[in-house]
Amino acid sequence: MIPPPALNIWEHSRQLRELCRRRAMGLEPEMDCAAQGAEILSHFVDRRGMRLLDVGCGGGHLVHSLARIGIELDYYGLDYSPAMVGLARKARRSLGLDPGRIILGDVRGLVGFECDLVAMINTLSFNPDFREPLDRLAGTGAKVMVIRDFFGPSTVVSWERDGFLDEPHNHLKGYWNQWSTSEVASFMGDLGFNSTFVPDHRTMGRTEIVVGKPYIWSWLVAERA
Ligand SMILES: C[S@@+](CC[C@H](N)C(=O)[O-])C[C@H]1O[C@@H](n2cnc3c(N)ncnc32)[C@H](O)[C@@H]1O
Repeated sequence: MIPPPALNIWEHSRQLRELCRRRAMGLEPEMDCAAQGAEILSHFVDRRGMRLLDVGCGGGHLVHSLARIGIELDYYGLDYSPAMVGLARKARRSLGLDPGRIILGDVRGLVGFECDLVAMINTLSFNPDFREPLDRLAGTGAKVMVIRDFFGPSTVVSWERDGFLDEPHNHLKGYWNQWSTSEVASFMGDLGFNSTFVPDHRTMGRTEIVVGKPYIWSWLVAERA
């Protein structure tokens, strides 16, 4: 299920890769969303060694935000971009962290992986639908999923050119989807989770332009009932 790298928008921006590399190394200011994600996760950490899966981990910089607030988790990152996985592993190696914790794979093909907590930050929107990723994540046995995405009054599927990629790849398209809060909450209810939607500290309901597309971010905190 891993998209062919030639078609994967996350493989074709040198500028984004360099930013992710610097974040992975802790050389960039902390992202507000990573700080908020770590803070939300901290409320559900009740023992040492709990396992976290960071889905769409990019360079895996969430580890720095967790460390900043003293949260010790057994961190795993999952990403379907070989370029992102490569730079995340390299950064972890040079920081003395285990590169083997970064898994190359599509969340929709996730089987047999168990964890206590899931983070999925700025990632679900880029998938064709929310159902399959969330179903797979429920299958990990996680008690809590912390998801930052574009949740709104209705589901709107957009398949558009990225427009910010290196040539000759700038024709590539991706999903930039908005998910209906009520559809997501109902789906999560069927999976046995209670959903709470939390405002995004950085944007507080304001529209943010992400590579030319309007986004209104918020957080889904889904707790197993
Ligand atoms: C916008 S980046 C977010 C990176 C990081 N979470 C952050 O907030 O900085 C989205 C990442 O999700 C990954 N991704 C998107 N859909 C995925 C899927 N179905 N399975 C695994 N990774 C996925 C992409 O490869 C990309 O690295």
